[in-house]
Amino acid sequence: MANTFDRFFSDASQLMKKSAIREILKLTQRPEMISFAGGLPSPDSFPIEDIKRVTAEVLEEEGRAALQYGTTEGDNKLRALLAERHKKDGLDLTIENIMITTGSQQALDLCGKIFINRGDVVLCGLPSYLGGLNAFSNYGAVMKGIPLDDHGMIPDLLEKAIVTLRKDGKNLKFIYIIPDFQNPTGVTLPRSRRLEIIRIAERHDLIIVEDSPYRDVRFDGTPEPLMSALDTRGRVLTLNTFSKILAPGFRLAWVTGHREIIDKMVTAKQATDLCTPPFVQKITARYIEQGLLDVNLKKTVELYRQRRDYMLKCFREQMPEGVKWTEPDGGLFLFVTLPPSMDAARLLERAIRKNVAFVCGAVFYCNNEGHNTLRINFSYSGEKDTLEGVRRLAEAIREEMTVS
Ligand SMILES: Cc1ncc(COP(=O)(O)O)c(C=O)c1O
Repeated sequence: MANTFDRFFSDASQLMKKSAIREILKLTQRPEMISFAGGLPSPDSFPIEDIKRVTAEVLEEEGRAALQYGTTEGDNKLRALLAERHKKDGLDLTIENIMITTGSQQALDLCGKIFINRGDVVLCGLPSYLGGLNAFSNYGAVMKGIPLDDHGMIPDLLEKAIVTLRKDGKNLKFIYIIPDFQNPTGVTLPRSRRLEIIRIAERHDLIIVEDSPYRDVRFDGTPEPLMSALDTRGRVLTLNTFSKILAPGFRLAWVTGHREIIDKMVTAKQATDLCTPPFVQKITARYIEQGLLDVNLKKTVELYRQRRDYMLKCFREQMPEGVKWTEPDGGLFLFVTLPPSMDAARLLERAIRKNVAFVCGAVFYCNNEGHNTLRINFSYSGEKDTLEGVRRLAEAIREEMTVS
């Protein structure tokens, strides 16, 4: 069957790559596999009973509207509740500044759709969320990675890259950044850097796409301000999602930003899916209105804090010397660095044979670096699997160390 239909596929489709993570996830479906690969929330955090009750209420009280098409912008009540919720972030929004999307992944795709011409450059973290890299590359973006340190993207290096690229005649559009508990590294950008990056965007006339799925999943310390709350010119578009604070199966997310950009995204979304399911939006609006989101979030954060602590404990007890990892204050991931001579892809083959999986860090590097890094999810597995999974992983690393 291979290549039978090649002549039909568009040039744009040639740019599309299958997500390496989705491919690994297929492998990890085997029951004996302990997977630290996906960015999966724990099903223990899903409020099934409350959702059952709220769903019945929606069907009883507004079933006819819930099962009908909705507007592309999203349910007005949900948007109003989100505007209200963002007051705590210091954001003064009306519903025109908010658009509901079918997951943040759709918002990333829509950013590609409305901003990118083939060959445009997008500046992103090195490393950075693969789903973001793929969303923009699919529209022909050239991704330029800016190195991170323990405090996220390094502003000086960002500005240098912008100056050099502009000198080379490149067209730059936006900075893609995950400021809170970054995927994959888990690092958080401090306020001073957020401000610096906003100033850089102003000096060089760039948009900032702030992707913030993990912001509310904070275990320690005080929250840093949203970049959109520090921005006074409407340059920051913020992507938020219910995936990590309620249920990824809802495929429900929202974008906040300048009305003009939101309006353009709405136009782009019309041709994509007409609207995000009104049924799910109405369930979520009620769920928030009844004060349940914050209650569940508190439980979820506590669960993930315990899981992070346990994962770190297992790492400290079992990992051989020479292996380093981040200790994030929130989010879902640790990022692991092996000695430079080691290759995480080879380690993964060995690990899979031992029935433990992770994601190779290299997939998050748009410049083919990061071969000795890997991402570990700590939210999904319970203690028994974490203990055994880290034992298998440490064993695989030790074995791989002796051959590399
Ligand atoms: C940084 C980042 N952005 C976006 C997404 C996509 O989230 P959603 O489930 O809302 O599509 C993820 C998912 O893991 C993510 O890590």
